Amino acid sequence: MPDIVHPVSVEFAANANINAEQYQAMYKESIDNPDGFWAEQANKYVSWFKPWDTVSDWSFDQEDLHIEWFKNAKLNVSYNCLDRHLEKRGDQVAIIWEGDSPEDDRKITYKELHEEVSRFANVLKDRGVQKGDRVSLYLPMIPEAAVAMLACTRIGAIHSIVFGGFSPDALASRINDSDCKVVITSDQSMRGGRKIPLKVNADTAIDNCPGVTTCIVVRRGGDDVAWTEGRDIWYDEAIAAASPDCPPEEMDSEDPLFILYTSGSTGTPKGVLHSTGGYLVQAAMTHEAVFDYKDGDVYWCTADVGWVTGHTYIVYGPLANGATTLMFEGIPTYPDISRFWQVVDKHKVNIFYTAPTAIRSLMGAGNGPVESTSRETLRVLGTVGEPINPEAWEWYHGVVGNGKCPIVDTWWQTETGSHMMTPLPGAHALKPGSATAPFFGVHPVLLDDEGNEIEGNPASGNLAIDRPWPAMIRTVFGDHKRFYETYFSMFKGYYFTGDGAKRDEDGNYWITGRVDDVLNVSGHRLGTAEIEAALGLHEVVAEAAVVGYPHDLTGQGIYAYVTLMDGEEGSEELKAELVKLVRGEIGPIAKINIIQFAPGLPKTRSGKIMRRILRKIAADEVDGLGDTSTLADPSVVDDLIDNRENR
Ligand code: WTA
Repeated sequence: MPDIVHPVSVEFAANANINAEQYQAMYKESIDNPDGFWAEQANKYVSWFKPWDTVSDWSFDQEDLHIEWFKNAKLNVSYNCLDRHLEKRGDQVAIIWEGDSPEDDRKITYKELHEEVSRFANVLKDRGVQKGDRVSLYLPMIPEAAVAMLACTRIGAIHSIVFGGFSPDALASRINDSDCKVVITSDQSMRGGRKIPLKVNADTAIDNCPGVTTCIVVRRGGDDVAWTEGRDIWYDEAIAAASPDCPPEEMDSEDPLFILYTSGSTGTPKGVLHSTGGYLVQAAMTHEAVFDYKDGDVYWCTADVGWVTGHTYIVYGPLANGATTLMFEGIPTYPDISRFWQVVDKHKVNIFYTAPTAIRSLMGAGNGPVESTSRETLRVLGTVGEPINPEAWEWYHGVVGNGKCPIVDTWWQTETGSHMMTPLPGAHALKPGSATAPFFGVHPVLLDDEGNEIEGNPASGNLAIDRPWPAMIRTVFGDHKRFYETYFSMFKGYYFTGDGAKRDEDGNYWITGRVDDVLNVSGHRLGTAEIEAALGLHEVVAEAAVVGYPHDLTGQGIYAYVTLMDGEEGSEELKAELVKLVRGEIGPIAKINIIQFAPGLPKTRSGKIMRRILRKIAADEVDGLGDTSTLADPSVVDDLIDNRENR
């Protein structure tokens, strides 16, 4: 492991929200007395209409699997993100919106956001949306996405956001799985100067969604769209006609807040269900503690609201804290490769949070595009989504942050709802590539394959958590059995993350990546099973196996082994067709990098594909294949090696 350590800056620590001593004391309290600790945070970060009876009540056992925080307490998320700020910061900017084109921007105050959310909540009610109903959002990065989210929370509807880069099929299956009656989309979305036909995609999806009665369309691209009378309504016309008065619904702490689909190692994507009170407490607390957020800071998270990072760290965490949150519609390379840093200067951004894949691609263009900007307002930098290689970390630190901004490498998951491990900028020495230390209340353990805790340092194993935290997943929507099987059946008594990790001599954690069949491409989660199912739809494909391999830019690339039906011939045209097929089924994020036609796949005698071998061949590590004697036909491996494709 590299020895480079950047000590905590004394100057930074002196003004930090949390310094090293405070971290130690608070962490100890959070583990020794979790209920007392979280009760205090719940009172600090959230305004409740009615207090709770019990702080936590839980079991990870199969028979009785449940997780509850702040039981019977009442609150409303939009009230916490809007109404309670009005008196003190009604005229403060809540959302700075920076459009795809540098000429397009907007500032929305808390007062304005409150009014628009209230109006839109009334529009939803008019269309028959009631507490507990599901609403699907398929939107670009425009302020209306935040308005729609908050409007759902205002009336107790459960939003399910589908990333705009997913295909109509992927959208339809998510709408149907959670039985959404309303879909909110836009005419087109704008990315890198190009228009993407979101409404066309939504129409195609809704054709296969019998439960959808309303489609609300935000005007963005301005081009004509097809219209279904009675079902489709324009967002701007509807809010103009709606009342600006909509009292927030009193929600129970354990009422569902949102569903977000994510890929796992098997089957179709799962609807991760988050509930209200615990999620909001931890979203707000992590946003303040991890980014050292202070009143008046301009905060920018570059994620899309279609991912969990956008939920927690563009919308709910920052707005609960009364922050100014920047929402960016575009891409880092448009109109040119300095865009991120130009936006930092334009809006005087203090805290900047992005993904390693973006850093790596910008690093590839050299220092010039960064150094042409000042970035003097930056104080804290963050990363999320995948391990960051030390080289990219140092570039981010030295060139982007001028060597003066701590970097918080935040490890967490859709299921965890908020940060789980990260250095705190005023408390921890920074080790490039290490997610460092658990957040308050999080008790990570490393388990061997039999489920025994590995004590002592250094160590490495399967990363699990031995107790619940307030923002954790409550169930898989509509499938509590799958919830148990996915996260709690592997190691009894623990939440299993699916990640592997190492703990170094100092007890600091390093995430080594997924140990299951989940791929992480540019920080986006993709299940190998989903991609294999899509490939299997082609009439000449007999079988497919998909694995990840190390990729300089995207972290992992997608390598597919495809066996064709007897008598079929592989060709470059067929490869192109298969790539297109998967893209159409899942979306542009599922771009296969390499296809290898394979007459046979390495299988055990019981017919199980040995992915370990496929991963090695894809990574070009053919010398360390290990034991292949248990294969039904060891000769297939030689063929795979001989015919492997260039990376
Ligand atoms: C990976 C994104 C290393 C990890 C918030 C996890 C990371 C998966 C980091 C969750 C990090 C996320 N270092 N790996 N800082 N952050 N991951 O659900 O494999 O889209 O299990 O949530 O991303 O991805 P998800």
